[in-house]
Amino acid sequence: MTAIVLISGSLRRDSVNGVAIATVRTLLLRREPQPGTVLLDLRSLPYYDQDLDVGDGPQPVARARRLIANAEAVVISTPSYNGGAPGVLKNALDWLSRPWGDSALTGTPTALLSASPGPRGAADAQPGLRINLERSGAVLIDHPLVALGNAEGMTRTEAGFTDPSVLALLGEFTDAVWAGRRHTTGPAHDGLHVTPVF
Ligand code: FNR
Repeated sequence: MTAIVLISGSLRRDSVNGVAIATVRTLLLRREPQPGTVLLDLRSLPYYDQDLDVGDGPQPVARARRLIANAEAVVISTPSYNGGAPGVLKNALDWLSRPWGDSALTGTPTALLSASPGPRGAADAQPGLRINLERSGAVLIDHPLVALGNAEGMTRTEAGFTDPSVLALLGEFTDAVWAGRRHTTGPAHDGLHVTPVF
């Protein structure tokens, strides 16, 4: 099953990164042909433990690896926790980065944005994540930096942010994701195996 895989680096119920991911999903679903979209819920993954990383790994890890290895693209929205990615996101990338040299992320087109209630939009979390992704073999999709500042006050619905300027910015970001995705075989993922957060 092919899909564009969406990841919020925050587990918080009212996460602005969750809203950013919901917005990107809404914009992607307007595309033709309509892509499958899947939210990878980071809660499903155990703490990385090399002793558990044998064979395909624990079942949720194996599933996440399959999802990413077959993804048309991956989109990540992250907060900044003390200048870096939250542990849950780094944990997921560590699972996805193995086995070394043949990680699920190898060759996977990946786009990164960030959001925060503060004015800088968690931009400081992005450089470290880019290094993690590149070391894991991901292909970073080329696009201008997107760091949504003061995001807590932005108007929104369940489908995401509604402010026209934010939609324009995320529209350009989504254009880049669409152009940078790869074409994988198989029917579009139906998204049924996801725990939706939006
Ligand atoms: C934060 N926050 C934060 N904000 C920021 O702009 N720079 C930072 O370094 C940090 N560091 C940080 C560490 C930890 C442990 C927490 C819990 C929070 C605040 C953060 O931006 C805020 O909680 C956001 O709302 C998190 O994003 P979501 O959950 O809204 O997506």
